[in-house]
Amino acid sequence: MTIETLTIRRPDDWHLHLRDGDMLRAVLPASASQYGRAIVMPNLKPPVTTVEAALAYRQRIRDALPGDSAFTPMMTCYLCDDTDPGEIRAGFECGAFAAAKLYPAGATTHSEYGVTSVDRTAGVLATMQDIGMPLLIHGESTDPAVDVFDREAAFLRTTLTQILTRYPRLKVVLEHITTEEAADFVMRDESGRLAATITPQHLMFNRNAMFTGGIRPHYYCLPVLKREQHRLALRRAATSGSHAFFLGTDSAPHDTDAKESACGCAGIFSAPIALQAYLTVFEEEQALHHFEKFASENGARFYGVPLNEGTVTFHRIPTRVTGSIDLPDGRRIQTFLAGETLPWTLA
Ligand code: NCD
Ligand code: ZN
Repeated sequence: MTIETLTIRRPDDWHLHLRDGDMLRAVLPASASQYGRAIVMPNLKPPVTTVEAALAYRQRIRDALPGDSAFTPMMTCYLCDDTDPGEIRAGFECGAFAAAKLYPAGATTHSEYGVTSVDRTAGVLATMQDIGMPLLIHGESTDPAVDVFDREAAFLRTTLTQILTRYPRLKVVLEHITTEEAADFVMRDESGRLAATITPQHLMFNRNAMFTGGIRPHYYCLPVLKREQHRLALRRAATSGSHAFFLGTDSAPHDTDAKESACGCAGIFSAPIALQAYLTVFEEEQALHHFEKFASENGARFYGVPLNEGTVTFHRIPTRVTGSIDLPDGRRIQTFLAGETLPWTLA
């Protein structure tokens, strides 16, 4: 039976890049108007590595919110080789940090200050395990000998397995998974301490999208889009009803000059349209009954925060996706699916 409207509990975005300054002010309204909370990624320049920096960044986000907004930014700490376990503990206990993010050094945008080896961060991970603070992982091997399309699978076999074995009670979110191997890895875990976010682009597109008729920088993100077999596995995982998978857009704005360049930045700005994109996928998979769990319940349960009050309602009215948003200095940020039409409108 086709339904004309769908109401779900207000969702959260468990993986979001908001940037800073004019870019923050331009992109924040899209997320704040739809989501109750978001996990805000710390890969600013310089990265958010201290309690003081997280509190200041959270204040800049709050200052950029519309007056009546109830949106809650949940801050993260960017782990470096020399991160002090005391800072992690203090930040988590005072509510400044909701989680910490592990970027293998060099794996992605602004990851150059990241962790060079798990051994270097042993004290931090032990502390996080003790206090129940989630570790969010960009799961890609940085070994230059590993093919770019194989980096996630390689990371699972090496670093992730090592972390999970050494810290058997550490809560881990494998961020923006892109492969069948990652979906299976998370699905197989029975402890409940391992989860994964999945982006709309990895559910909707395979790697062909980056090369259709020419090179298409607006489909380039990290981890890079993979083969069709992986997209199908991610769709099965996301729509399975499993509590281990939840919504994390990885909306990552870059201006069009930075994207459409000889060395274009990785990142897809999906915040304005991600919810309708996810919903379209769930409907195509005949899994509308699992959509609310993925969007509004699983993440909150994993992070141990209450489910949101309030709801959002979708209507079966086609939405044509706005092409871009403008920055005050004339730069533009192109939206994921610009110019396309999706079957649902968010009321
Ligand atoms: C992100 C960004 O631009 O900050 N880019 C991306 O392609 N996803 C970084 C990240 O999450 O890897
Ligand atoms: Zn990201």
